[in-house]
Formats: sequence, C-alpha cells, structure tokens
Amino acid sequence: MSNPSPIISPSILAADFANIQSEVELLNRSEADWIHVDVMDGVFVPNISFGIPVCKAIHKHAEKPLDVHLMIVNPERYVEDFAKAGAEIITVHYEACPHLHRNLQQIKSIGCKAGVSLNPHTNIDVLEDTIQDIDLVLIMSVNPGFGGQKFIENTYAKITKLRAMIDAAGSSTIIEIDGGVNADNARRLLDAGADALVAGSFVFRSDNPEETIAKLKAV
Ligand code: DX5
Ligand code: ZN
Repeated sequence: MSNPSPIISPSILAADFANIQSEVELLNRSEADWIHVDVMDGVFVPNISFGIPVCKAIHKHAEKPLDVHLMIVNPERYVEDFAKAGAEIITVHYEACPHLHRNLQQIKSIGCKAGVSLNPHTNIDVLEDTIQDIDLVLIMSVNPGFGGQKFIENTYAKITKLRAMIDAAGSSTIIEIDGGVNADNARRLLDAGADALVAGSFVFRSDNPEETIAKLKAV
C-alpha cells in the first residue's frame, strides 16, 4: 500500500546550529510536516548532538510538531523534560529499553505520541507484542549516530514486513524511515509502506532546502 502524500520530517541535525532560528523559520515556510530532532548521548551512539535546552530553543520558533528521536540510554529519565521542551512525538530505541512497554506508557501518560526506533540489525518481529501500543515505528536505514551516511538496502524488506504486521494487527502505527533518504529512494520507500520520511543532509546540503522538501513531498 503506497502513501501518496508522505509526512516529511527534515532533521535539524544537518542544519546550521549558529543560525538555528532562521533554519527553523525556513522549515516553517516549507512543506515540511514535522521537525526531526536527533538527540545523541555519546553512550547509546558514538556521537553527542544536543539536549533539552536546544530542543526548547527549536520549539520557541517552530510552528510544526517536534519529532524527537532519542538515541540515548535510560530515556525514561528525560522524556518528561523533552515533553516540557516541546516534543510532540518522542521516539526511544528498542535496543535501549529493556522495559519498552513501560516506556511507551510513560510517553503517552505525559500527552506525547510514542515512537520506537529499530537499529538496522534489529528484526521487526520484536515489536509483535507491542505494535498496538506504538504510535510510530522509526526504522533506521543507517546506523544511528551520524548524518550523511549511505542508505542500507535491506530497509525495504523491513518496511514490507512491518507494514504487514501493522495491517494484520489493525493498528494505525506510522512507519517512519531515517537515514540516507533522498529523492532517489523516497518513492520506493513509500511504495514499500512507509508513511513518513526523515531527511537531513539531502535537505540542508542542497542549494534550496525549501524546494528540496517540496520535491520529497511530491515524489
Ligand atoms: C542518524 C539520525 C538521522 C540523521 C539523518 O543517527 O537519526 O536522523 O540526521 O541524516 P541523513 O538524512 O543525512 O542521513
Ligand atoms: Zn533521527
């Protein structure tokens, strides 16, 4: 089942941090649906990005929902702070959550949409018993930690499998893809069953990010 009008969530990780206000304003003007906020702790992933104060600063200027991707250990310690900092969707990593069901309940109890992200090596099957409780599954199509990496081809097969699982469960879970997304692979991702696409370098390293977002939206 293909989605004719994908949700586009540009990743602010690839933006110019010295001009965060104008970068967020660019996204406000664009056809972007959400703003993807990549939080890295240097423990779960081998890189540190930014945390709660920067999320708050983005939210101050944002006119679109913040789609917060927590690449951190012990996310339960911070989800409330991220909700207060403006997060609407909070996604935690399956690999960082031994008590995933509890994490999902916590995120929903504070009024946010609950997402779960899977690393490239993690099989879709691990979500079978929680799929009804998950608002969004974020399939990593690169190893988390850095922008600008090469897209992993096995992602298409994972999307097809996840779409079948969601449909069989009668759930309205959104499938979002993150890493190496561009205008060349976007259509195939949507045809495989994706609903939402994250794009960092493809958007912010292009000559005209607004046009690039429009291109992804219309792919
Ligand atoms: C990677 C992040 C991604 C990243 C995507 O760890 O989760 O959101 O910013 O960047 P691109 O689109 O450049 O692969
Ligand atoms: Zn991300």
